Amino acid sequence: MAGEYCCYRLVDVALVSLLFFSCTFTQGTAQGEGAVRLFGGNHAFQGYLQLYSGDSWGTVCSDDEWDETDAIVVCRQIGAIGGVMSPKSGHTFTKVDGSIPIYMAKVGCDGTEERLGSCSSSNDTSSCTHASDVKMDCVIPGFKACVVNNGDLPLTGRIHNQTGMSVSKCAELCRKDGYHYAGVDPLSCYCGSAGDDFRKYGVAPNTECMSLCGGGALQACGAERRIAVHEVVVGSCSGSLKAGAGAIASPEFPGAYPLDGRTCQWVVDVSENGDTAVRFPVFNLAGGDEIHISIDGGKNWTVFNGTYYSQENPPFVATFDENELRVKFVIAGSSQRDEHVSFVLTFQENTSCDVVEFPNGYLDVVDGAAYRPGDKVEVLCEKQYMTEWKYSICREDGLWHRAPECIKAPPVGPSLVFTQTYLFMMLAVMGALGLIFFMVICGVICVGRKKKKEGYTGISRQESAEPTKAENEYHIDMHEGSDMDMQHVGGQEEQAIPLASGAMDD
Ligand SMILES: *[C@@H]1O[C@H](CO)[C@@H](O)[C@H](O)[C@H]1NC(C)=O
Ligand SMILES: *[C@@H]1O[C@H](CO)[C@@H](O)[C@H](O)[C@H]1NC(C)=O
Ligand SMILES: *[C@@H]1O[C@H](CO)[C@@H](O)[C@H](O)[C@H]1NC(C)=O
Ligand SMILES: *[C@@H]1O[C@H](CO)[C@@H](O)[C@H](O)[C@H]1NC(C)=O
Ligand SMILES: *[C@@H]1O[C@H](CO)[C@@H](O)[C@H](O)[C@H]1NC(C)=O
Repeated sequence: MAGEYCCYRLVDVALVSLLFFSCTFTQGTAQGEGAVRLFGGNHAFQGYLQLYSGDSWGTVCSDDEWDETDAIVVCRQIGAIGGVMSPKSGHTFTKVDGSIPIYMAKVGCDGTEERLGSCSSSNDTSSCTHASDVKMDCVIPGFKACVVNNGDLPLTGRIHNQTGMSVSKCAELCRKDGYHYAGVDPLSCYCGSAGDDFRKYGVAPNTECMSLCGGGALQACGAERRIAVHEVVVGSCSGSLKAGAGAIASPEFPGAYPLDGRTCQWVVDVSENGDTAVRFPVFNLAGGDEIHISIDGGKNWTVFNGTYYSQENPPFVATFDENELRVKFVIAGSSQRDEHVSFVLTFQENTSCDVVEFPNGYLDVVDGAAYRPGDKVEVLCEKQYMTEWKYSICREDGLWHRAPECIKAPPVGPSLVFTQTYLFMMLAVMGALGLIFFMVICGVICVGRKKKKEGYTGISRQESAEPTKAENEYHIDMHEGSDMDMQHVGGQEEQAIPLASGAMDD
């Protein structure tokens, strides 16, 4: 991937200084090893799947292994945040150039991968032809659900029965009347109010809403007994949104935007987010048209024009940590356009905690890994330093909690005091036991001697007194030995401190 990563982000450095990094949105490229695109549809969310490798685009084989979990990964990689509409689209897209290679077969994603290239696959495509190329549809921004219509209408507003209906046309009609939702099937357009529980008669798989619209080439218009419900705000020329994630699309998306010289404007409140990532999964403007973006309340604007930027060369992903995103779309009214002019800008919570540096220690991070809110990382300190909290946790605001720090270790740590006290107590107890034993034995012997004097004889005296004396001696020895041991162990313990903390550091 060429281009720089762009960031406006506050970075906490050792709780001491706050550094403010800022940079502008940069030019990116959609190409690069492992890049994917959907080709030959009306916009970049539908078409034949192509994969970039070496220095060219190739296709992917739609064999028995190709299914929804694989398509999910493709939609995620191209920035279609709504997911999959159909993993094996029945729509007719512009045919791919038959001379391009077929790169992949037997794709087996588990659905969590960020890129198609991370999924298992085979490069043995000998049994594939271009007739079996994968073609698919991702969900377009604003699509809510494919819902069941068994006679009871799930949307309560006005119904338009006109021929030549399409998603964009229906959204426009419902928007004009102040509705919140636009539902389409091949014959009608149903408007819905904000409070409509359109899922109440059931939700069907997205693939059941793929019938073509009469009036919108390659738009998906629900099906008989199925209504594709969309939010009308997507595809409008203005909006005020408050969401952690969502999309802004050109007027009348998924249709082409009208070249009517308007200027559209949107304001998005993303204050709940830490970092917000902005992308242009669809970027196909007419020559003179421009998109302006500001993240500082409208003081500074970054401009992307349709002369320089394109679907193949879109403005690069940007991440920023500000509360508001403003977008302006200036339609110049140029006559030079292709029939699919449109754009989609997505914004998404994408907080990660930067790997902070701090004196005398470091975070035990994995190279190249991104740390998301909730992730826990161990704090490691250099020799002679210690940390009060073993872990720091990445927080929603992109800072570590608690901020990692290493402080100078005191000469005697609490664990050492504990050990010494413990040892001392052990020895005291042993000593006391020894003393009691000594006294008991002594007592026995004295009694024995006394009994001998009193005339007890033989075996019992011999067999009990002698070994008892030996045991007695042994215990005295042990007591003395233990005493010495205590000093010895104590000495060892003191020497062992640096060694132990050194071992911990390693
Ligand atoms: C397929 O991949 C293997 C292992 O990566 C490689 O050795 C082989 O050359 C590749 N075959 C083709 C046709 O690219
Ligand atoms: C629309 O068509 C349906 C049947 O196709 C009909 O029941 C309904 O009355 C029509 N509505 C209008 C406003 O024409
Ligand atoms: C989200 O952040 C990670 C790392 O912080 C970055 O690699 C990734 O590209 C970002 N995603 C988007 C959509 O910007
Ligand atoms: C706009 O951005 C430039 C460069 O990034 C910066 O120097 C300038 O202070 C900013 N202007 C305002 C009004 O924020
Ligand atoms: C379009 O954008 C490019 C890159 O920012 C710039 O160099 C060029 O002058 C712009 N063209 C027009 C006509 O504004």
